[in-house]
Amino acid sequence: MEMFRYFLSFIFFVALISCGSEADDNGEDFGNILDSPSSLVLTEDEHVYGWGRSDCLMCHNINNIHLQNRTDVTIDMEEIQDQVAEEGESICMDCHGSNGTTE
Ligand code: HEC
Ligand code: HEC
Repeated sequence: MEMFRYFLSFIFFVALISCGSEADDNGEDFGNILDSPSSLVLTEDEHVYGWGRSDCLMCHNINNIHLQNRTDVTIDMEEIQDQVAEEGESICMDCHGSNGTTE
């Protein structure tokens, strides 16, 4: 009986740990976006909900993007975070294209 109680608390503990790691996430995740049709540059197909808009930060939280490099090339993500923190929304299109705002 004592053994069984240990077992139950062990399971509970493991469950707690797994919940914890879910909370500690790495921000928005769209996988390797260099694999997408035109690399970093957004296309209408991959950006249906945000297409044609320049107010990127209405939908994307600046603290929740560029947290992890999921591409297969070396990118200095901290450098991107710094640039974005300094320049804000005005710089997004330098890397992600016009997002349909000039078409
Ligand atoms: C109205 C909300 C909205 C706005 C405004 C918006 N986005 Fe998005 N964005 C989304 C959503 C939702 C997704 C998830 C992909 C999807 O379902 O379209 C996304 C996905 C992305 C992705 C990942 C695309 C991929 O390759 O999988 C990038 C990069 C991105 N947005 C950048 C931007 C930039 C840069 C701007 C401003 C020029 C912007 N977004 C404006 C809602 C928005
Ligand atoms: C210097 C280039 C650069 C600039 C400027 C830039 N991005 Fe990105 N962005 C990237 C790269 C590289 C990735 C791919 C990261 C990865 O592997 O997921 C990315 C990924 C994203 C994603 C996909 C989710 C993620 O976190 O990976 C979103 C959304 C996004 N950028 C939005 C924005 C917005 C909004 C701005 C402007 C505030 C912006 N980006 C400015 C280079 C840039």
